[in-house]
Amino acid sequence: MKISVQGMIPYLRDNSISDKILVYDSLDSTNEYAKKLARSEAGHGTIVIAESQTSGKGRHGRKFFSPPGHGIYMSMILHPRKHRLDPALTTPFAAVAVCEAIEAVSGSEPRIKWVNDVFIDGKKVCGILAESVTDPNIPGYQLIILGIGINFSCPETGFPDSLHQVAGAIFTSSTSVTRDRLAAEVANRILSPQSTHSENQIIEKYRARLLMLGKKIMVAGSDESYEATAIDIDDSGRLIVQKETGETVSLFSGEISIRGALTT
Ligand code: BTN
Repeated sequence: MKISVQGMIPYLRDNSISDKILVYDSLDSTNEYAKKLARSEAGHGTIVIAESQTSGKGRHGRKFFSPPGHGIYMSMILHPRKHRLDPALTTPFAAVAVCEAIEAVSGSEPRIKWVNDVFIDGKKVCGILAESVTDPNIPGYQLIILGIGINFSCPETGFPDSLHQVAGAIFTSSTSVTRDRLAAEVANRILSPQSTHSENQIIEKYRARLLMLGKKIMVAGSDESYEATAIDIDDSGRLIVQKETGETVSLFSGEISIRGALTT
């Protein structure tokens, strides 16, 4: 069954969410489409969902594998003021929301690989790509396009060789849970007014699910790579690592990728 607004409605906490959901068979990228809509004044809370994506985007210019029938590819337009969330915390907030939604429908206990990946049993089941849209002509104007890609079940032909080692799915055998339900559970946690999100709570919940704290990781920056120990995250969600020299460094999400510490 394809994802549909009708299929999601029974699981949505708030009817106002359903009025703003747009579902398409195929898009290049739901993030790109949501950006176009945002420029033509689509409002806070607009959700774009595609059954498949031809150019699904990941971080660092990577592609996000987006075949039909097995994933949830969704992007939400967020106005930071209406969402009442510091834009810097969008990714931690969304990662916690996705973990809690997965836990509610599957009973699995997802964990987070800093900064934006959700893992179950050592395999990536979700990636998050939050992009900022600004307008040089309107000082202070900022929208967030929050893109979430979830591997709900395994494609019949499996994941491509390049993803085989790292990608997994939430459901590896047949299930009565639908993609509609999980998509609705994610939307509820991100958009419903009942989803309270004090910044401290977000960081606490995010920290509690982080895979790598206390572990050795490889930090790969644009000009240097080094081994370090992941110590903690700070109030803005930056990862604090200790280099082998003893020096501690706070890492911003945009500038590095992390390898290692993929299991609990
Ligand atoms: C990552 O793994 O680095 C992030 C992947 C984000 C994928 C989602 S799928 C929906 C939305 N549209 C995109 O093109 N990307 C995001």
